[in-house]
Amino acid sequence: MERLQVLKIGGSVLTDKRSGSNELREGLLREVFSRIRDELAGPLVLVHGGGTEVHRVAVEYNVAAGAERSSTEGLARTALEVRRLNLKVIELMISSGLLPFSVPASLAFRTTGGRIKSANLDPFLASLEHGLIPVTCGDVVFDRELGFTVLSGDSIAVYLATKLRAARIVYATDVDGVLARDPDGRTRLVPLMDYETHRRTVYTEVPDATGGMAAKVEEAFEAVEAGVEVVIVNGLRPERVIGALRGERVEGTYLVRSFSSKKS
Ligand SMILES: Nc1ncnc2c1ncn2[C@@H]1O[C@H](COP(=O)(O)OP(=O)(O)OP(=O)(O)O)[C@@H](O)[C@H]1O
Ligand SMILES: [Mg+2]
Repeated sequence: MERLQVLKIGGSVLTDKRSGSNELREGLLREVFSRIRDELAGPLVLVHGGGTEVHRVAVEYNVAAGAERSSTEGLARTALEVRRLNLKVIELMISSGLLPFSVPASLAFRTTGGRIKSANLDPFLASLEHGLIPVTCGDVVFDRELGFTVLSGDSIAVYLATKLRAARIVYATDVDGVLARDPDGRTRLVPLMDYETHRRTVYTEVPDATGGMAAKVEEAFEAVEAGVEVVIVNGLRPERVIGALRGERVEGTYLVRSFSSKKS
């Protein structure tokens, strides 16, 4: 039996967050989903991100900061946008011939100070047993310290991959991978990155509900430490997403355990 993989499709792939449009990139997603159907045999968990409107509402109401600094209106409105987006993704998967099973993160995960502390993994395990693809996404969740907060798809991907002993996480985002700014000001793709390189990299972030690329990489190293292979690829290039899931070496950033400890 092939080992489990986790695919995290970023909100920046679902919609064009830069242009401000909340339109789903339907053609692109159909291609990714139908190629998963045709070219992948093993079990898969799909996690998706927030998309333009989810991020807009979450930032407007500062939902991630919790009950004291946000509002229940923000919580309710963000939850609504998350449901709308998830429904669209599920519909596209089904019409592309996949069998998704939606697991709301707001029900499956309980956080403390924004970190997942407990989870109900049963719906993930049961849907996998039935040959379905469990689908969950970045969401609003109830938090033991903050009252409520935003839980990112990136954190969910790391948690599930670690707990379910996945072989690999593939992060699909809207850039080729981790881009490092060289001293001459030019950016270049980092094909292999260990934790030290990550700490030295200059990330150029735009405001976002859940922290962007630097936060993604920081968390992803927890999965790397647990033995999960982590690849960050450009989700606007379906062949790279599929190739990465097939275990091929594709253009993107591969996170690795420390370069220095590799020598020993
Ligand atoms: N050094 C960097 N390398 C790569 N991307 C970077 C860097 N610094 C900032 N970024 C930004 O990080 C973004 C990707 O992270 P972001 O969290 O926005 O995407 P996502 O994971 O696809 O979306 P979501 O969080 O909604 O799921 C890119 O669009 C890029 O603009
Ligand atoms: Mg993000």
